[in-house]
Amino acid sequence: MDDRNLERRRILVIGSSNTDMVIKTGHLPRPGETVLGGKFLMNPGGKGANQAVTIARLDGRVTFVCKTGNDIFGHQARLLFEEEGIDASYVFSDAENPSGVALIMVDAQGENCIAVASGANANLLSSDLIKAEEAIERADLLLTQLEIPMETVEFAVETAWKKKKRVILNPAPARPLSFSMMRCLYMITPNETEAEMLSGVKITDEESAYQAAKAIHALGVENVVITLGAKGALGYNDSFAELIPATQVEAVDTTAAGDVFNGALVVALSEGKGFGEAIRFACEVSAISVTRIGAQSSIPYRKEMAILKSRDKNHL
Ligand code: RIB
Repeated sequence: MDDRNLERRRILVIGSSNTDMVIKTGHLPRPGETVLGGKFLMNPGGKGANQAVTIARLDGRVTFVCKTGNDIFGHQARLLFEEEGIDASYVFSDAENPSGVALIMVDAQGENCIAVASGANANLLSSDLIKAEEAIERADLLLTQLEIPMETVEFAVETAWKKKKRVILNPAPARPLSFSMMRCLYMITPNETEAEMLSGVKITDEESAYQAAKAIHALGVENVVITLGAKGALGYNDSFAELIPATQVEAVDTTAAGDVFNGALVVALSEGKGFGEAIRFACEVSAISVTRIGAQSSIPYRKEMAILKSRDKNHL
């Protein structure tokens, strides 16, 4: 994790691509309630795509494997990936299913609720990954999440692990994981809810967050990073245990903050940054994203990070 080879390492992201339909409201509606909302935004999203775009905007070298429908959203997504400089050779097109869509509501505090119609994402199969085996072979790091079928995730993780790649799993949205897959992970990056589910530890404060990280580490994952929203992110491994505080910002929309964190974290690892340094960088990049509305519309570019560095880090 420590070497300083400046050559950009190849990153492979396997995951979902959605089109997000976002409405900004004063508050999130209760069941049966209609809230007259403010702004509407249609924006590219999906956890996998958000992570791949983050990596590209931070100058990482990234290939993205996903499946979209053979429809306007799918065609647009592929074009956008190419414009971002992402290798889209393994963006598969599904003749049977539509592209994934997410309906998102964001309240005045920036909190959201999301419903996803997975469409073609649910049809990204191990057989597709076999076609993309050359990309797994070439990659140095694999980043994946849980918005595609679990069998596909397990196949990806095990294939990459057998090829001695560093595999980072962002276990979002929360789903139970097999022990056999967990032992193949180099790093896992749950949020608070996901960490509680994996560890069985209720996170109420810093101490319980450490206990949760320790419990997940004991399941066989070398490096654990628990993201704690506005509190920051906790890193844990055999020689490191530290809560890195979040950069303080006025949140407008927290959608995709976790995706941006993960993309940035993996870019930092690909550049040979140490564990703590990589988490700090990811906290800084994701802080910028919550000051903007939308998923991919909120992701900063590397040059913006340089501007941020020249300002007071704690007050964006
Ligand atoms: O993590 C945020 C993402 O979750 C959104 O872009 C939406 O598409 C859902 O997948």
